[in-house]
Amino acid sequence: KYEKIWLFFGIGSLFVFLAVLGVGAFAQGTQPPSCLTTIDPEKVDQTPPFDKPGLVKTGENEYQLNIVASAFAYTPNQVEIPKGAKVTINVATKDVIHGFEMAGTNVNMMVEPGYVSSYTQTFDKVGEYVILCNEYCGAGHHLMTAKVKVV
Ligand code: CUA
Repeated sequence: KYEKIWLFFGIGSLFVFLAVLGVGAFAQGTQPPSCLTTIDPEKVDQTPPFDKPGLVKTGENEYQLNIVASAFAYTPNQVEIPKGAKVTINVATKDVIHGFEMAGTNVNMMVEPGYVSSYTQTFDKVGEYVILCNEYCGAGHHLMTAKVKVV
């Protein structure tokens, strides 16, 4: 008799667990963090500004940093930014979902195929920032890094 109760309890907690998982996935899926523009993932290399990735000056102290993510690297993977610059970072992926996290800043984006993820950040402090991929994207995921130097 007690076994039945335990069985019921076990199945019940399994359902609760699945529900939490499902709600979590759904909630994340409904709010892609910063997707503004769409892009053909197969033509990222031909689509401006990603045909010439890198830092572009757009105004007084204002820049655009265009980065292409692909398994398992960012292009470019080393960028120098002048101190005080207001930088709009645009990232597009050529293949799967990648992450774009800049350690020590508020920059933390999910990069989904078909979308350009953007975030504007002002760099007031001189230093080095490491960019990491925080979405598992395959065997080389842990190797996927880049560096931004504020000089
Ligand atoms: Cu790209 Cu993990």
